[in-house]
Amino acid sequence: MLISYSDLETIEDYRKEAKKCFEPSFEKYVAGGAGSQPDDNAKAFNNYLLRPYLVNDVSKINTSTTILGHAVDFPLCICPMGMQYKIDKRAEHIPATAAKRKRVGFAMSGWASTTMEDLVTGSETGLKFLNIYIYKKRDWTENLVRRAEAAGFHGFVLGLAKLNPAASPAIVHSPATSYANIKQFTQAVEPSDPDYPMPDVSVTWSDIAWLKSITRLPVIVKGVLSARDAIQAASAGADAILVSNHGGRQFCPVPAPIDVLPEVVAAVGHQCEVYMDGGVRSGANLFTALALGAKAVFVGRPILWGMACEGVQGVEKVLEIYKKDLTHTMIMAANLSFNAVYFKSFITFTPKFHLYRVSPAVYKHL
Ligand SMILES: Cc1cc2nc3c(=O)[nH]c(=O)nc-3n(C[C@H](O)[C@H](O)[C@H](O)COP(=O)(O)O)c2cc1C
Repeated sequence: MLISYSDLETIEDYRKEAKKCFEPSFEKYVAGGAGSQPDDNAKAFNNYLLRPYLVNDVSKINTSTTILGHAVDFPLCICPMGMQYKIDKRAEHIPATAAKRKRVGFAMSGWASTTMEDLVTGSETGLKFLNIYIYKKRDWTENLVRRAEAAGFHGFVLGLAKLNPAASPAIVHSPATSYANIKQFTQAVEPSDPDYPMPDVSVTWSDIAWLKSITRLPVIVKGVLSARDAIQAASAGADAILVSNHGGRQFCPVPAPIDVLPEVVAAVGHQCEVYMDGGVRSGANLFTALALGAKAVFVGRPILWGMACEGVQGVEKVLEIYKKDLTHTMIMAANLSFNAVYFKSFITFTPKFHLYRVSPAVYKHL
């Protein structure tokens, strides 16, 4: 039955509807992971329960906050995601425009099909970050830095994890459609080609310091899944940490980001902002991540689902669902704003989780 898009009320509604819009191989690419089940990250949220307070004046809920000092209407940023041209030829223009209209952040993929310059001249853009890699040829990275600064980007989302080419078997990369920003340096399409734009696998923590030394813009390190890496990244100068397993796409088995978040917050939360992504499918999930210490969440696939169904309007509607549900959760939990100390008392755990998985460092705050 043909359904009207005005009937789509939840993120799950958008997922089901988008499935009908994608080519089957692309649907597999979006949903897929490196072996884990695509929804493992989302399922991990089920281990966290919210313990509401009964009485508080919730007549004035405030969802606004900042990401690296920039005001946002609520704490969400769109994840960097490549291959958006496979959904719509306007590609990154769509989520960037929706993010600007809804006053949240947007991160442009290192595998984008739009150049940074085209994005800022062809769209409405607000808070925006560039997903960057450290290439063997450091001048490629330096070129991206200079152009991002000139185009008015607000910082970088640095990918350090090794990319797993097997994670996108059905997708053909090409300079025109999947790495528009560095196509002047390489036309390689085969991963075996030495000029194929894979990140340098010999990077060390000192490369963060190098990146910081060539730019005044902040660097968010994406893909952290341990306190150890978070401490190293923060010591090397990272301005923020994005706890992420890249949507389960690069390596398996890995823990769900929501389970690692408290450990990372405990390790570096006093030094830099900590965000998380992976499986955030509702405002209640978003609230849970904030209660566990995240300053903001990043959201991936649901944005592509909104884009597939209704373009800019679909992404705006997905963002509205998150905000509405977050506001509802705040009202029900009697929480007015994001005060970290007060916040911790909202979280409780399922009995199984409580017994087996909560570290004492987290537990002592409850
Ligand atoms: C289709 C697709 C493409 C992606 N491309 C990138 C990318 O270019 N760079 C990157 O750092 N992460 C990439 N990711 C991972 C996301 O940035 C993010 O970590 C993940 O999607 C978050 O999980 P969620 O989809 O459950 O919200 C991609 C994810 C998807 C679904």
